[in-house]
Parts: sequence; structure tokens; C-alpha cells
Amino acid sequence: MCQKKRHLVTAALIYANGPIHIGHLAGCYIPSDLYVRFLRSKGKDVKFISGTDEHGVPITIKARDENKSPQEVVDHYYKLINDSFKEFGISFDIFSRTSKEIHHKTSSEFFLNLYDKGTFQEITSSQYYDEKEKQFLSDRYITGECPCGNNNNAYGDQCEVCGKTLSPMDLKNPKSTLSGNSPILKETKNWYLPMDKLQGNIEKYIDKKKDWKSNVVGQCKSWLNDGLKPRAMTRDLDWGVSVPIKNADGKVLYVWFDAPIGYITATKELEPENWEKYWKDDETSLIHFIGKDNIVFHTIIFPMMLMEHEDYILPENVPANEFMNLEGEKISTSRNWAVWLHEYLNDFPDMQDELRYCLITNLPENKDSDFSWKDFQQKNNNELVAILGNYINRVFVLCDKFFDKKVPGVSSKDIDSEIFTDLKDIIEKIESSIEKFRFREAMSYVIDVARLGNKYLTDTEPWKIFKDNPERVKDIIYNSIQIVANISIICGPFLPFTSKKIKEHLNINDLNWIDTGSEIINPDHIISGKAHIFSKIEDEIIEDQIKKLKLNNENDKIMPQKNIIEFDDFTKVDIRVGTVTEAENIPKSDKLLKLKVDTGLDKRTILSGISKYYSPEEILNKKVMVLINLKPRKMMGFESQGMLLLADDGDGNLSLMQPDSNISNGSVVA
Ligand code: MF3
Repeated sequence: MCQKKRHLVTAALIYANGPIHIGHLAGCYIPSDLYVRFLRSKGKDVKFISGTDEHGVPITIKARDENKSPQEVVDHYYKLINDSFKEFGISFDIFSRTSKEIHHKTSSEFFLNLYDKGTFQEITSSQYYDEKEKQFLSDRYITGECPCGNNNNAYGDQCEVCGKTLSPMDLKNPKSTLSGNSPILKETKNWYLPMDKLQGNIEKYIDKKKDWKSNVVGQCKSWLNDGLKPRAMTRDLDWGVSVPIKNADGKVLYVWFDAPIGYITATKELEPENWEKYWKDDETSLIHFIGKDNIVFHTIIFPMMLMEHEDYILPENVPANEFMNLEGEKISTSRNWAVWLHEYLNDFPDMQDELRYCLITNLPENKDSDFSWKDFQQKNNNELVAILGNYINRVFVLCDKFFDKKVPGVSSKDIDSEIFTDLKDIIEKIESSIEKFRFREAMSYVIDVARLGNKYLTDTEPWKIFKDNPERVKDIIYNSIQIVANISIICGPFLPFTSKKIKEHLNINDLNWIDTGSEIINPDHIISGKAHIFSKIEDEIIEDQIKKLKLNNENDKIMPQKNIIEFDDFTKVDIRVGTVTEAENIPKSDKLLKLKVDTGLDKRTILSGISKYYSPEEILNKKVMVLINLKPRKMMGFESQGMLLLADDGDGNLSLMQPDSNISNGSVVA
């Protein structure tokens, strides 16, 4: 472990545009909380920083979708996220927000510092622009084909299929996510971080990081090998931190410029007098916990910004995790394929550690991992209940039975001392694994301590020998209670609620990592008669969760409401009643039917993608509704002069829209 005097541990500032799900927890919040609780237990000076990232396109898009202001969106989600983290026991020292005044000030000053030094390149270039929405299109406002060839809907900042970070100009066939239109190019001025020029410094910095995880170094190397390019640190948007210089109206700081500075702001809020020692003193070890989609921002861009500022320390380590899947499929917010933390807490009150345990044993530390409800049940029933909980309860029950809840005295410190040698070995292994950010491995060692204790009881069989040799039983129970006390300490970083419960049953005050060893609890100390720590989870509970997941997912096939439009927008649409007078298949097309439709105004050709649902015979002579003022389109060598209206349930079923009576062709639908 790095032996520095103090530690500043950050967990990614999550976008305040949705609730927390298990993927977020496994990606960075549980690992960071575990690490910090360990450091605190070791008596280290540590601060744990996080909060919500409240700027950027993800927020403005959500606001638009929900017809709310960005501020309303972030206020709502800040509360939901903060409340659920608190209830779940993530022990931040501060959970701040980037929309706060103090953050606007801190990030503006940071920008100005670099601006005054001449770090930025001022570049006027052509950028994609949505003429209808009168808005430049950056980041998630634009989608298109990723150069990787496997994703037609990559975002302007990132391809979620190949994972590459992109610029809008990298996309083929770009489309505005606001209007769906193809954008035009328009000139605008922005301030760029000359990442090409700073590449050498970053390479030197990363080359020295021999202990970084291979998935992290791999991503850095791939970026560096491609050659870094200047990247705009400002955006033409109206939501964010205003660019604090003249002639920059209508421009804000790039969200990935202001967000990591949020870590600095939060430290300032927490330690107004002392924040600088956490950021500007070499005796601080700065550790960023994040998910894999945030790697380059924390290992390349933010360190570059810190280097350019000149007086900041750089991240010591960035132990990023990969992603967690759910029941074998990618977690998806839009498809509602997720286990939401606030819902879990509602459905499983007081079962925080049960979820924590299942997530820790499945952390995506080196590769993507999977959460399944059956595995959750199995780990709870077969490991927490059957091994850990059972062992602890056995010791309490035996002490009650033989010594009426009073810890017996021990005849000699050397009795069965090998058990404490084994315990010490395991504790050292736990420490070493945590220091290497191998939390899954560390968790399994914690369970090994319960296994060790269980074996000790099984081997010595105190219940059999009490009658003949009560003195021997005193030693066994005394030692067993010391093992339980050790478990209460070492499980703290992993299972904080459990640690507290065991300590309560042991009737002891807070103990720390340094107290681990063979003599924690003195003879004659009174403890509880039993300790029921974990409970079995029945099949029905798990089946209900699986059902709920599938149901949410079904409902989500229903398309969300589109953006609000003006009445004028609607009146532009000209829909008429018509009759299909001719219908035929188009050779070589398995989708299209070629129709002649009498619209009352004329008889026109319309191609409709319905041949899977209607045969030419079925549709012939049917009354239909036709969008007649749609720009004609050529398909399979024919021009289609309109569109039939059909309902689509999102699940592969189409149904033709028809008037309710035999109203005449040409009637206006409105
Ligand atoms: N908001 C980003 C996300 O949820 C993470 C930002 S981390 C910070 O992916 F460094 F910018 F704060």
C-alpha cells in the first residue's frame, strides 16, 4: 500500500439524470466505500468525495424528454440518489453537486488559470448544427455510424459498442437527436486542450504507474497509440458553467472539464481551511474509483488539466471496473433492465449487506460480470446464512449454554494458538488484497475466517466434552469469541451493517483493524445469548423479483412520449381518408406492397412496408388513412407518394388505421 500520510478517495460524480442501479454500485460505489472503510479502520487520514454531475447533454436531453427544466431534473435526481446512497450505507464524507455556486466559481477559476497561461488553443471550426432547433450538436445531441462499423447509433462522444471516445466529426451519416434531421455545418469558436502537445507528459506519467490495473493501462495505451488530438473544453450550450471570458456568450465549459473539478470543489466544501493539503501536497494519495467508460477522462484529460495548472498532485491510481450485466444482458436504463437501488431498498428493507455481499463477490474487476437473482439467493442462503451467520450464532449459543452468556477465562494464552496464527495469515491476505484493489478475493478470505472458526468447533466438539472436561471448553469458547470479535472488525469494510450487528451482540464498542488479534474480549464480559444475523430468502421472493424485472421490461416496449410540439407543427401534417384500389407484391422485396390509393384528390402510388402483415387481397378495397403531403420517396425503383397510417406496438405487431364509418375519400383527418 502506498504509505502516504493521507488519502483522498473519489467516486465518480454520477449524472443526475436517473436513479442508481446495481451496475453503478458494482462499478465504483461499493469498491470505493469498501476501500475507504478499510483505510478508516486502519486509522488513516482519508476523505471520501462524491456527488452528482449536473451539467452536460445527458441532463438537458432528459429535461427535454420530460418537458422539465434541467434544474428540475437535477434537483429531483440529486435527492433520490443521495437518499438511496445514505440508506444503503455508502459512507461519503460529502456528496455534493456541480450546479452549486461554489463549483461554478471553482471551475471558472481553474479554466481562467489555464486560459491565462495560454494553455488553450482558440480554434474556429465548422461544427454540426441543427437548423431547426438552432443548436450546435455535440456529444449526445448527435448520433451516427461509428467508424468501428458495428454501431449505427453511436453518440457524438462515445460508441457504446466498441467503447471508443469519439468526436461528432468521426460519425458517418450524422443525425441530430433533437430533431432527427441531418445537421448542417456552421462555424463556431471554442477553446481546445492541445492534447497532442501534452501527450509526452502523460506518457511519462502513465509509464511510471506499474501497479495500475491492466484494463486501465490497456485503455490508456490504446488512446495514446492512436495519437491524442486537441479536444474542445467549451461547448455551444446554455446549460453548464459559463465560459468565464469575454466574447464567449452562449458557451459553457465542457462537462468533462467541469465535472472532475467537482472533486476539488467538494473537498473545499468539506475542508474549507485545509482542502489544499488534499490536492497540493505530495503526501496525499489521490485515488479515483470509476467505471470503465470514464477511464480516459481520469487518466489522461483530468491529469493533463492538473499538470497544466502546475500546483496540483496527480491521481496515484484509477482502479476502474468493467461493467456488470443483469441476468446475462446488458443493464439498460431505457429498457428498464436494471435493479434500481431505491426499489431494492423498498423491497428488501434492512438487507443492505445481502446485496453488498452478492455484488462484492461478483465485482467486474477484470472483466464484465453478471448479477442474477438466483445467484443472490444462493449466495445469501449458502454463504451468508449457512457459513457466516451460522458460525457466529453457534458461538453465542454455546457460550450461553455453558457459561450463561459470560465470556469464560482461558487457562493459558498458548492453548490452540495455531488457530490465531491461521487467523493472522488470513487477515494479512485480506489487507494485501484490498491494497491491490482485489476486493472479490478479499471477501472470500473473510468467509474463510468463519470457515476456520467452524472447523475449530467441529474438531474440538465442546458440546461432547463439557461434562468431562469443562476447563477445556472454557478455552475453546474463549478462543471462539475472539474469532467472532475479529470477524466483527474485518467484515466492517465489506458488510458494515453486519459488523455493527455483531458488535452489538458482543456488547463491545467500536473496534478497529489494529485491535484484531487473539485477545479482544476479556473474560467475564457479558454477551447476547444468540445472534440471528442473516435470514434465508425463499424462492417466492426471488421469483417475484424476476417477474418484476420481466414485466418492467415488457412495459417498456411502449414508446415513451415524444417531445411536445406546437399546434402549428401538427397542422402541417395532411392526413386524408382514402381507398386502396390496387395492391400487388413487389418482386424481390419481402416487406413492401405497391398500392394505388384513391385519396379523393387523386389516385396515387404508395409503397407500404406491410407485406408481412397484409396480403394484397386483404388490403384491396380497404378504407385507409394516408399522410399525403410527405415528400415523395423512391423505393425499389418506384416513387411512393405518401404513407399509410398503422399502429405499431413495438413488439412486432402492426394494425392498419381505418375510419369508423364509410366516410368519403379526401376527408381530412385532424
Ligand atoms: N457523470 C459521469 C458519469 O456518470 C462521471 C463523471 S466523473 C467526474 O459517467 F470525474 F467527472 F466527476
